[in-house]
Amino acid sequence: MKNQCVVALLLTATSLPVSLLAQSIPSLKDAFKNDFGIGTCLNVSQIEERDPKTTAFIARQFNMATPENVMKSALLHPGWDTYTFEMADKLVEFGQKHNIKINGHTLIWHSQLPGFVRRIHSQDSLRTFFTDHIKTVAGRYKGKVFSWDVVNEALNEDGTLRKSVFLQHLGDTYITDAFRLAQEASPGTELYYNDYNNEQPAKRAGCIAIIKKIKDAGVRIDGVGIQGHWHVGKVPLAEIEESINQYAALGLKVMFTELDIEVLPRNVQGADVGQRMTANATSNPYPDALPDSVQQQLAADYEALFKLFLKHKDKVSRVTFWGVNDGDSWLNNWPVRGRTNYPLLFDRNDNPKPAFYSVVKLGK
Ligand code: XIL
Repeated sequence: MKNQCVVALLLTATSLPVSLLAQSIPSLKDAFKNDFGIGTCLNVSQIEERDPKTTAFIARQFNMATPENVMKSALLHPGWDTYTFEMADKLVEFGQKHNIKINGHTLIWHSQLPGFVRRIHSQDSLRTFFTDHIKTVAGRYKGKVFSWDVVNEALNEDGTLRKSVFLQHLGDTYITDAFRLAQEASPGTELYYNDYNNEQPAKRAGCIAIIKKIKDAGVRIDGVGIQGHWHVGKVPLAEIEESINQYAALGLKVMFTELDIEVLPRNVQGADVGQRMTANATSNPYPDALPDSVQQQLAADYEALFKLFLKHKDKVSRVTFWGVNDGDSWLNNWPVRGRTNYPLLFDRNDNPKPAFYSVVKLGK
C-alpha cells in the first residue's frame, strides 16, 4: 500500500506539470477558429497514438490533419490487386475520435509510387492503375475524409506540365480525368490541386491553366493548395498575396497545406522530394540550438505570414503545418539526411517557440 502511494505520488509529480503546462499553452485552432482551420501532418507513431501526451497535444492544437505518408500510393497500393488500408483507416478513426477533419493526400503523384507502377510501360496498364486506384481509394474514404489532394505536383517551375509517368502515358487530360474519377467515387468530398512554388508567377500561371481546364470540362475542383515550404528571411509575401487573390478570383478556396520555414543552408529550391544535397562541414550548423537571431527572424516571418492569411481569411480556408514539432519535420532528413532543423512553431519537446507566440497572439 505504502509502495503504491509512493508510485502514485511519483507519477503525479512527473506527469502533472507537463500536462498542466500543455494546458496553459494557448491553442492554435481556438485562436483561429473564426478564421480558418489549423492542420498538421501526422506520421505513423502519431496515428497509432503511441504517446498519449502527443495525442492530447495534437487534439488541443489542431482541427485538421493530413497523412504525412500513409495515404500515398506506394503505401496504400503495393501490388496490382493489393491494398493496405490499415494505417489509413486508423487515421480516419483518429480524426473521428479527436474531431479532426482529414485531408487525403494524395491520389495522383509522380513520387512515392508503388514499384509495379514504376515498371509499367504501356498506356493501357497505366490507365488501369490510374482508374482502379482513384476509384478504390476515393471510394473507400467517401464520407470519411473531408477533402482530397487529387493531384499533387503536376507542374514544372516554368508552368509547363511535369513529364511524369502520367503525362507520358495518359496525355495532358490526365489531371481533369483524375478529378472526374474522384468526383464520381466520392461526390461529397472537396477536391484540390496541390503543389509547391505555385505562388511563383510562372508556376501560378500553369496552375491557373490546369484549374481552368478542369472547370471548362465541367468537372469540379474546390480548392488549390500552396504547400508553403519556404526559407527564413525569404518568404515571398507579395507573390503569396497575389496568388491568394488570383486563385480566389477563380472561385476556389486557397489553402496553405504543408507549411514550414527552412532555417538551414540549402542549394535545392522548392520541395522536390527526389532532389538531394550532399552533406558537408557547414550543412548542419545548429546541432544544439537555434541562434537567437534566426529564432527572431523565424518568428517575424511566421507573424508576417499569418497577418497575410488573416487579411485574406475570407479566401483562406486552412493552414496546415508539415509536422507537429521540429523533431517530426521531414526537413531533418531532406535534402540532406540527419540534420537538426527548426522549421515549425513547437520545439522537439512540444514547447512553444517565439514563432508560436508571434502567431497565436494574432488570433481572436
Ligand atoms: C514528404 C514526407 O514528409 C516524408 O516523410 C517523405 O519521406 C517524403 O515526402 N511535398 C509533399 C509531401 O506533397 O507529401 C512531401 O512529404 C513533402 C513535399
